[in-house]
Amino acid sequence: MNEKKVKIREVGPRDGLQNERQWIETEDKINWINQLAETGLSYIELTSFVHPKWIPALADANEVVKGVKRNKSVSFGALVPNERGLERALQVGIDEVAVFLSASETHNRKNINKSIKETINILKPVVYQAKLADKSVRGYISTVFGCPYEGNVNVQRVIAIAQSLLELGVDEVSLGDTTGIATPNQVEAVLQELARKISLETIALHPHDTRGTALANVFAAYRLGVRTFDGATAGLGGCPYAPGASGNVATEDLVYLLEGLGAQTGIHLERLVNCGKWIQNKLKRNLPSHHLQIALAS
Ligand code: HMG
Ligand code: MG
Repeated sequence: MNEKKVKIREVGPRDGLQNERQWIETEDKINWINQLAETGLSYIELTSFVHPKWIPALADANEVVKGVKRNKSVSFGALVPNERGLERALQVGIDEVAVFLSASETHNRKNINKSIKETINILKPVVYQAKLADKSVRGYISTVFGCPYEGNVNVQRVIAIAQSLLELGVDEVSLGDTTGIATPNQVEAVLQELARKISLETIALHPHDTRGTALANVFAAYRLGVRTFDGATAGLGGCPYAPGASGNVATEDLVYLLEGLGAQTGIHLERLVNCGKWIQNKLKRNLPSHHLQIALAS
């Protein structure tokens, strides 16, 4: 294993746009994703095959996946909550599947209307069929570092859910700091506990930057050996079923930090910043990415 190589998962088109109040035209989403695909990113999460009533901003999932220019060096993923979602995703030829659930019951119920146990049962055939179709599968766990409804989340519960996902056959587990409340000490403590049972090679960190701690959390996770990180270009994002959730860590800032630590991301920073400029112009408001704001000021 190349210790320096890190994987960046771009979730901007999905996590970034799912919470947008203004409708973004399908052709604009496609145009933006095509630009992102030219930056060296190896994974882009395009959209969600969830119920459009729950996430209206991504109601055009079929058209987006069908419209994006395919590129052999990029794997295009989508969020899938159940068998119906998987069927829709496979029909339009998604490359990779992302399933999701929460570590806290209340958030899980609000987000997907099921208990955690019911969700694991729902995901069982989803992961099985996705693997049969030869797709990589990542599994998100939300509210790993705390829940907006329940407060503290027991790390043993997180480990048990991660183990269940891995037993179902997911290739990677992404730990969601859904409302951006984690601090580096907590990230370290959770990862150290987790590493006693699960190889950190299968773990990704999915930081939201609600309280400005996302990059510090990435640093803590990187030092412990995590090599996969999720980000959204321009710092877009947030979970609509988690009050107060704001953007993902900006992919530009993530790339800068990791390259500065000696890691290899394979991403062209200037091109990524240009993608940030493009989506900021479309949304007509300032977005949180530090790199984007520096570029716009110079
Ligand atoms: P439900 O109402 O319990 O669904 O919603 P159901 O299974 O009872 O079915 C009700 C109806 O929905 C049926 O239609 C189904 O066919 C239909 P009817 O028979 O009444 O005509 N249906 C669907 N239609 C289209 N696509 C589907 C689908 N499934 C059922 N896939 C459900 C359950 C999961 C569908 C709903 O709760 C939902 O769509 N939730 C999505 C929530 C969401 O997307 N949240 C944001 C993403 S998670 C996140 O952001 C966190 C993350 O970033 C990590 C982090 O930051 O922590 C990943
Ligand atoms: Mg998220």
